[in-house]
Amino acid sequence: MSLDARERLIVALDVPSIKAAETMVARLGESVRFYKIGYQLAFAGGLPLAAGLVAAGKQVFLDLKLHDIGNTVAKGVESVAKLGATFLTVHGYPQTMNAAVEGKRGSKLRILAVTVLTSYDAADLVAAGYKLNVKELAAARAAQARDAGIDGLVCSAEEVAALRGIAGPAMVLVTPGIRPIGSASGDQKRIMTPARAISAGADYLVVGRPVIEAADPKAAAEAIVTEIEQAESQRRA
Ligand code: C5P
Repeated sequence: MSLDARERLIVALDVPSIKAAETMVARLGESVRFYKIGYQLAFAGGLPLAAGLVAAGKQVFLDLKLHDIGNTVAKGVESVAKLGATFLTVHGYPQTMNAAVEGKRGSKLRILAVTVLTSYDAADLVAAGYKLNVKELAAARAAQARDAGIDGLVCSAEEVAALRGIAGPAMVLVTPGIRPIGSASGDQKRIMTPARAISAGADYLVVGRPVIEAADPKAAAEAIVTEIEQAESQRRA
């Protein structure tokens, strides 16, 4: 997918308040064009903030991981589409994905499916009643997402190559767990540098703490954009 390197960086606004979010957005200025809002901020006034960011020319990824009966999901997605968000996550259950595709119809909103939460391992899947292992379930859900007309998948950078084979070229692959060399991994276990994730075929990188907790968040964001640019030019060469 042909995108400017800067448009591929999504900064996770994992902060507790609107004031903190607005301060961070102001500090980042023109260096960041795309923000992710998750539970923490969404339930602390983040939805009007999302609409405000869109009005200010930014793109917004609402990481709400919806999952409910089809009618409720479809109506919820319709409301999210009116906020002007670019991406919304739903859990990768076929009924939920079909409902989300129905709900976004006629809007610019793109739906991303979460295949298997990265905090789940084999034992968690057994406890939840599944017979498939993590890899099998992720692959099955990726295929179901593609068949349902879902726009993209959230996946770890390590999964990009395998999932691209299932998702095909049209679906976007969005990867968290990104750590520039020298930054702390925090609680992320399966991490990759921005350059390696882009080389592996990721379309968008979600980066939280390495930017928002940096002494100079703007410089950290610019360094990641430069790294994406370099990796892209190597990918094209
Ligand atoms: O601070 P960090 O860069 O680890 O933030 C990554 C962001 O991506 C967080 O908002 C986190 O919730 C989200 N995320 C993730 N792993 C997933 C899905 C989402 O880290 N599998």
